[in-house]
Amino acid sequence: MDYKRITVYQIYPQSFMDSNGDGVGDILGIVSKLDYLQYLGIDAIWICPMYKSPNKDNGYDVSDYYSFQTCYGTNENFDLLLKEAHKRNIKVIMDLVLNHTSVEHEWFLESAKSKDNPKSDWYIWKDARKDGSLPTNWGAMFGGPAWTYCKERNQYFFHTFSNFQPDLNWESESLKKELFSVAKYWIEKGVDGFRLDAINFISKDPTWSDGIIYPPQQYANIYEFAANGPKVHTFLQEFKKEVLDKYDVFTVGEASSSTIDDALEFAKDINLIFEFDHLCLDNADWPYGQKDIDIIEMKKCFEKWQKGMFGKSWNTLLWENHDQPRVVNRFRINPSYRSDGAKMLASTLYLMQGTPFIYQGQELGVDNVSFNSIDEVRDIEAFNLYHNFVDSGKLTKEEMLFRISNKSRATSRCPMLWNGNQNAGFTNGRPWCKVNENYKIINVENQIVDPDSTFNFYKKIIEIRNKYDVIFDGDFTVLDRENNDVFTYSRKDNKSEIIVISNFRDRNISYDFSNFNNFKLLLNNKKELNSSELAPYQTLVYFRNL
Ligand code: GLC
Repeated sequence: MDYKRITVYQIYPQSFMDSNGDGVGDILGIVSKLDYLQYLGIDAIWICPMYKSPNKDNGYDVSDYYSFQTCYGTNENFDLLLKEAHKRNIKVIMDLVLNHTSVEHEWFLESAKSKDNPKSDWYIWKDARKDGSLPTNWGAMFGGPAWTYCKERNQYFFHTFSNFQPDLNWESESLKKELFSVAKYWIEKGVDGFRLDAINFISKDPTWSDGIIYPPQQYANIYEFAANGPKVHTFLQEFKKEVLDKYDVFTVGEASSSTIDDALEFAKDINLIFEFDHLCLDNADWPYGQKDIDIIEMKKCFEKWQKGMFGKSWNTLLWENHDQPRVVNRFRINPSYRSDGAKMLASTLYLMQGTPFIYQGQELGVDNVSFNSIDEVRDIEAFNLYHNFVDSGKLTKEEMLFRISNKSRATSRCPMLWNGNQNAGFTNGRPWCKVNENYKIINVENQIVDPDSTFNFYKKIIEIRNKYDVIFDGDFTVLDRENNDVFTYSRKDNKSEIIVISNFRDRNISYDFSNFNNFKLLLNNKKELNSSELAPYQTLVYFRNL
């Protein structure tokens, strides 16, 4: 598949579209919205996990890789989705969670039974240390230690994420074989590729040694020991040889904390990786603290990746996903200019080199949902952190809810805003999760008919990407490295040049346009065009033939 030429739309199935009124999105709901997606102009959908799961981590805790959670529908529904998507030239990319399963997966139940059962080494088991302490002092990503005791084996099992998600042991040959069969099964069913969840965690530090604990953390940072371990590429090469090379499938792996060198190594195994450097720029104190983004720092970050990958590999372009807050909140876009800000952010990112990923609702400029009580929060990570910090008196309830609403992943997982009717047209039932209060203003029905909407701007961006080759192959140069208000960059190949200018401020900023006199204006998110300044959040795209 020509993955460098596609635009991918990410669907969070629980919140996309409910077809049967149970309050949860489903496969037939997705089918009913394929025309919408086709109209937007995307080429592929990536759907977050829908496999059988106790849903402790919203589907990322799989208990059976071969069938779907009842709320999503049946394998036949999925066949229909494949057929209808392919009819519209839309590829279907499934999320594949190969680093861990649910504790309820039959493999784990078997493995936990004894030290000598056939699946005993399918997970990572260790004895307590001589002094009775845990095998290592590493902390799990979703709170607590990375080890949980199992009475049957009198041992601990290892988990990178929560204690409901035991890590699979890729050192086991029989396990690997089974995982490869899972992938083959779905490819043969007709899926076009995979988003490989947490794929850089499949090989751990073999020394199993302790790390440094930095208060207020109670455990050592697991990234140091479980991410990008020594055998990650060996394992992925096997996956490639046994599965990927045999088919025309696309793969994008989630590989947080990767460097350019890591990314170039992954490029030998799989097509693309997601790295999140630019999505850490507003991180402040833990948990979920936020600071203003320094635009100069942001430029450096994009420059590093755009130049570092140029001619060698290929970037993913993303502002949002189901693990991130909404981008308009990340940049603290002034709500009076929300749509201008959302458009400005779209042209800033999506005219760079790489494959664009758009997360459901982002094309409307949807903002974060605010939570008034922890009962409204449907996410294990936010839930655990809330209790950790509030119960111990370290943060007040109000402060923690503010932080969760502002910066946690729970805030972007809420229902898609289809129209101004009850529950934003997402369901006739009771939605599983809070609906954004802005739904009467921000919704698909309003935006699709408004030529100046954020939706129609996204549509134009996709059209421009498909039309101008320089966006595909041009080099990348930042033209105003010292400017902390405006970001101007050029994309240039031997035939043409594109200039993208974006004002990141909610005020007019003076700007010298004299270098762009012989360019043609392709895109402007405002009606006005002033010769000496940029309007609040104005973004302009210029083009010229060389
Ligand atoms: C990935 C997913 C995230 C999930 C975690 C554990 O980071 O994107 O949603 O919680 O893996 O599977």
